[in-house]
Amino acid sequence: MAGLPSKVFNAGITGVGAYLPERILTNDELQKMVDTNDEWIRTRSGIKERRITSPEQATSDLAVIAGERALADAGVAPEELGLVIVATSTPDTIFPSTACLVQDRLGAKNAAAFDLAAGCTGFVYALATGSQFVTSGTYKKVLVIGAESLSRITNWEDRKTCVLFGDGAGAVVLSPVPKGYGILSFTLRSDGSKGATLIIPAGGSRLPATRETVEQKLHTIHMDGQEVFKFAVRIMGKAALEVLAAAGLESSDIDYFIPHQANIRIIESAAKRLVLSMEKVLVNLDRYGNTSTASIPLALAEAVHSGRVKQGDHIVVVGFGAGLTWGAAVIKWGSPT
Ligand code: ACO
Repeated sequence: MAGLPSKVFNAGITGVGAYLPERILTNDELQKMVDTNDEWIRTRSGIKERRITSPEQATSDLAVIAGERALADAGVAPEELGLVIVATSTPDTIFPSTACLVQDRLGAKNAAAFDLAAGCTGFVYALATGSQFVTSGTYKKVLVIGAESLSRITNWEDRKTCVLFGDGAGAVVLSPVPKGYGILSFTLRSDGSKGATLIIPAGGSRLPATRETVEQKLHTIHMDGQEVFKFAVRIMGKAALEVLAAAGLESSDIDYFIPHQANIRIIESAAKRLVLSMEKVLVNLDRYGNTSTASIPLALAEAVHSGRVKQGDHIVVVGFGAGLTWGAAVIKWGSPT
């Protein structure tokens, strides 16, 4: 648990941006690809459709557009950025990092850049990491992006996973905001002993690519769905309550709850634990599926741009994913002048 140090300013989100590929893949289409049906997918996961990266796009292409939109929203020029972090499980290449590709394409010529891998918790990890550079005074403007092309690491013959994931990107600009606003508290956690429950077995140094690994589809997502489900239900409400307590708040103070979008049943169980009406819970997985690191910033960008989020609102974000990892943060929205 990390309550932020006593400073005259906090790190706050001063711009948001999102990008979704145009191609929509519906449950009805999936029904023609694997032994599944719309009713099973909707009732077991809450997903109706998802977006799919076009053949010419890679994760950096999605990230650049979301990043440009966040910079425009914040009124920040690319040269002002001190750091670009891209949270992703689907980088364009193992190296160079996707963040470096984005840094170049944005024209962020004064910025450091790195990728951050924490599975679907990547955005929350990157948010907390980026905020440290702002609160320490190291950088005034940090771009944090969650971007994924999960369709590229999906086994389209495995009905247990292929119905769940989607592609997209969301981005935020972090800047100093007055104390009392911005990121009020966060928690980042991990349990590597459960790593095998959500894994891409091949393609790294353990199992480099061979004809066999490709034939066995070891370069795609392997998931013990029920184990991940139980873990997610256990930690979501707990992590939210921890960050609320660290910020001196209670669940009744939450204006918007933005959980990682993996399964509507996980989200509903977290809302129940927090005694939160579903009106305060932002949900996009019905339209986009599980977009991993992009799910939280996509939901945030939609809520901000539709005018739902007002200055002074308390927003709680909670992520969980491969690692296993989990994390949460409380954000007080806005930056009064
Ligand atoms: N269509 C039809 N039937 C299916 C499908 C499908 N797409 N998938 C599984 N089934 C079948 C199973 O084979 C099983 O049949 P059986 O009883 O004859 O064996 C039955 O449906 C029930 O399967 P379960 O796995 O028990 O279904 P469950 O209710 O657990 O839902 C799900 C599965 C949706 C995967 C759920 O466990 C879940 O959401 N888990 C969490 C996933 C998650 O959060 N992932 C995060 C990823 S984070 C990251 O870093 C990428």
